[in-house]
Amino acid sequence: MKIALQLSVHFSLLVFVSCYGSNGYDPLENALRFQRSKGSVLNHVSSEDHSAEYSNSKVYMGPQDGLKEVDKISSLPGQPAGTDFDQYSGYVTVDPNHGRALFYYLAESPVNSSTNPLVLWLNGGPGCSSFGNGAMMELGPFRVNADNRTLSRNKYAWNNIANVLFLESPAGVGFSYSNTSSDYETGDIQTAKDSYTFLINWLERFPEYKTRDFYITGESYAGHYVPQLAQLILQNNKITNQTVINLKGIAIGNAYVDHETGKTGMFDYFWTHAIISDEIHEGIISNCNFSDGANITDACYEYQYQAYAAKSNIFFYDIYAPLCSPSIKPPISGFDPCSDNYILGYLNTPDVQQSLHAKPVQWESCSGLVGAYWKDMPLTVLPVIQDLMASGISVWIYSGDTDGRVSVTTTRYAINKLQTSVKVPWYPWMHQGEVGGYVVGYENLTFVTIRGAGHFVPSYQPGRALAFFTSFLEGKLPTNH
Ligand SMILES: *[C@@H]1O[C@H](CO)[C@@H](O)[C@H](O)[C@H]1NC(C)=O
Ligand SMILES: *[C@@H]1O[C@H](CO)[C@@H](O)[C@H](O)[C@H]1NC(C)=O
Ligand SMILES: *[C@@H]1O[C@H](CO)[C@@H](O)[C@H](O)[C@H]1NC(C)=O
Ligand SMILES: *[C@@H]1O[C@H](CO)[C@@H](O)[C@H](O)[C@H]1NC(C)=O
Ligand SMILES: *[C@@H]1O[C@H](CO)[C@@H](O)[C@H](O)[C@H]1NC(C)=O
Ligand SMILES: *[C@@H]1O[C@H](CO)[C@@H](O)[C@H](O)[C@H]1NC(C)=O
Ligand SMILES: *[C@@H]1O[C@H](CO)[C@@H](O)[C@H](O)[C@H]1NC(C)=O
Repeated sequence: MKIALQLSVHFSLLVFVSCYGSNGYDPLENALRFQRSKGSVLNHVSSEDHSAEYSNSKVYMGPQDGLKEVDKISSLPGQPAGTDFDQYSGYVTVDPNHGRALFYYLAESPVNSSTNPLVLWLNGGPGCSSFGNGAMMELGPFRVNADNRTLSRNKYAWNNIANVLFLESPAGVGFSYSNTSSDYETGDIQTAKDSYTFLINWLERFPEYKTRDFYITGESYAGHYVPQLAQLILQNNKITNQTVINLKGIAIGNAYVDHETGKTGMFDYFWTHAIISDEIHEGIISNCNFSDGANITDACYEYQYQAYAAKSNIFFYDIYAPLCSPSIKPPISGFDPCSDNYILGYLNTPDVQQSLHAKPVQWESCSGLVGAYWKDMPLTVLPVIQDLMASGISVWIYSGDTDGRVSVTTTRYAINKLQTSVKVPWYPWMHQGEVGGYVVGYENLTFVTIRGAGHFVPSYQPGRALAFFTSFLEGKLPTNH
């Protein structure tokens, strides 16, 4: 009843939701708006310790025998000849009583798969699909061609050097679902718990990965998911006195980790990148206090509104990129700004869904429903990141420097708040004779920029993104030659 009512109220919002990549679509702002509309401004949930209520003994474990073979993809429709790696996809039940199951896609490495690490990739939103966005548009082995039917190989795919697991999270996103519709009112805590349950069960289905080096990577709102899941894994390893999951490190890109710096860094980026006027910037500086506990005044709302309007019709997630338009052919940058349309077409083809072992559904790049009813969203996850930094795993924060949404300015302000000291000062890292970006080695933290990349880093700068990812897995700072 409640859901049905909310559904009708928000229906007007839902119909505009299409693709993460489309111009003007901002799932994070939609979720923030919902938090505010509840009257609670934002939930002031801090980095509470939920491990006690969620120890390993309570994790649901389902039978996994024989399911790996069932999940093997014989081939994807339109896939190019000579595909030389194994792919799997399917569902892992995380709550049998509610009928809640998460969908994954695994792209193994063509070479050295049995020794390469296992890397989990998560997209954010909240509500956006890791398979459709992460795998098909960013770092996966294939890109969908303009015919919506055929695929081409991404030669900079991250599965060249790792076995990459894409998880559609939480339930209600992409192909993941629940038979209990109230499950779609979810939030950070449930997302972390379900992802953990998924992993424990998935490792039973794929036992060869149980002791493998494991990394978690993701972007945008996954700046919440990745640290929270990592913390839960480390806590459960400690409670059980076992390395249940062999977590070695995390990397988060253009990551939403702190509300205050998310706002101040964005508007400062707009001003320093000639997107808004001096007057609007000054209005924000003198009227807005985005820190935890402060009230947002009407004047501040008004100046924020003016800033969004002033930036006009540019692609927020990559400020210098062309928009998707029939006149942009072939794409100038090598990345086709209409890719999200091809992916939408491809993933809604019945034989594609069948080959993926997915339930027949209307697949969406981002779920407006899940994102719009987000229950718990702490204002900051910096304390969680600080815990991880002290835990000994490697913590990398990277940033595409042409993203206007979670800008590199935001990231630098957030790192300042972490209060860590510089060990290796700022230097340019090199890739194929050019500056790939810049690096700072902090105590227990590495910061890397990817030059000329927007929010979806591997889409715009695939070569630099793979070089960065290689350094991350090797645990070495990117080279300066
Ligand atoms: C959801 O319900 C369908 C139809 O009853 C059933 O086939 C499916 O197994 C259920 N999903 C889960 C995860 O239990
Ligand atoms: C595979 O592993 C071997 C042995 O570690 C290494 O020499 C080789 O470069 C690796 N190949 C690839 C493509 O990663
Ligand atoms: C883990 O180790 C501690 C200290 O040795 C012990 O008190 C605790 O019972 C152990 N927990 C489990 C689940 O074995
Ligand atoms: C912003 O609000 C916080 C919390 O209410 C307060 O501590 C701080 O002093 C305020 N900053 C300014 C510049 O007014
Ligand atoms: C914010 O507004 C509420 C309600 O008007 C008020 O009770 C509270 O004291 C204000 N907080 C600050 C930090 O000004
Ligand atoms: C591809 O799919 C998109 C989204 O469904 C659709 O708008 C477009 O017309 C399709 N293109 C082709 C060539 O079928
Ligand atoms: C770095 O890690 C060490 C040991 O794990 C810890 O003692 C130290 O406080 C950490 N420093 C920061 C800034 O995270």
